[in-house]
Amino acid sequence: MATWNMPENPSSTHRHWTLGDWDNRSAVRSKKSSYQLPAPPEIQQQLISKDWFPPAFIHYFKHPAIQQASRAVQQRLAANHLVYFLNYTTLLEHKVVNRSVQTLIHDELPLHLPQAMKIAALQLYTDEGYHALFSFKLAEQVADYYRMAAWDSPPKRIRLLLERLDASHDQGRPLLWFLIGFVSETIIAKELLSLSDQGLVSTVYQMFREHLEDEARHSRYFSEVFQYLWPRLAASQQEDSARQLIEIIMIFSEVDEPWLEASLTSVGLSSTQARDIVNQLQQPEARAQRARSSAAATLLAMKRAGFFEEQAHYALFSQAGLIDA
Ligand SMILES: [Fe+2]
Ligand SMILES: [Fe+2]
Repeated sequence: MATWNMPENPSSTHRHWTLGDWDNRSAVRSKKSSYQLPAPPEIQQQLISKDWFPPAFIHYFKHPAIQQASRAVQQRLAANHLVYFLNYTTLLEHKVVNRSVQTLIHDELPLHLPQAMKIAALQLYTDEGYHALFSFKLAEQVADYYRMAAWDSPPKRIRLLLERLDASHDQGRPLLWFLIGFVSETIIAKELLSLSDQGLVSTVYQMFREHLEDEARHSRYFSEVFQYLWPRLAASQQEDSARQLIEIIMIFSEVDEPWLEASLTSVGLSSTQARDIVNQLQQPEARAQRARSSAAATLLAMKRAGFFEEQAHYALFSQAGLIDA
């Protein structure tokens, strides 16, 4: 592996190469939550006015068939959505993000990284292990509460990311892992931000709140690492990475059609209604709009790294509908 001994960028402040006051602020080091749901009568009481997942942040809830459905149906769909999201989060944290940060910790990328950046990567790895644990525990409890049937297929986004990695050349794989971590970590903070303070069942709210506080630090960290790394890549690596970043951002806006259709029909919607709901989400414009909105922090970090100063990169991203032409 080649190591480039380039000087550190003097204009960078480096302040987010650490995860802040990690010992006192990270969930795994400072929070004592049990993430236990209350007893069923208390859950039923809370569900009179609270939700499992904010309806405003479930894209398909805008469809008339769901708008006209009863509150019980909407709540069950939101519970299905929460369990899917938490199981997806467990896999993402464990199999994707934690693999991605290993590229920083173990010198898998072809450049020298400052020691502080590696220590923060180890802290982030520890955070994600804990997030995977509490997401898993809570998913299991909500699934038990409704006696939900298990959904064994891996989430579509995880499957596509792993397939993309399998198809990559050995030499470029560590950089692809890093880019996937960067996109994932700058997107998840935004997803979680949307979930806080939205009248959620108390345990769910607390779990999202604590996760979000960690993820805000992770998003800043990955943005700073991207800004450090990008100018140090060769032109050919930048060119490959630009295309890969579009693919990755689009994968993170994917809808898992088989799961969603199964969830919708399980509450009594017809197959035709379920297919119509999924089709609307799959329209190219709807997909680009979702991707653009969820990747706002990703695109900002790329802009700060000078990514869009290269005309070819700008053209690629505007053709993909991710930035204005
Ligand atoms: Fe996390
Ligand atoms: Fe994270």
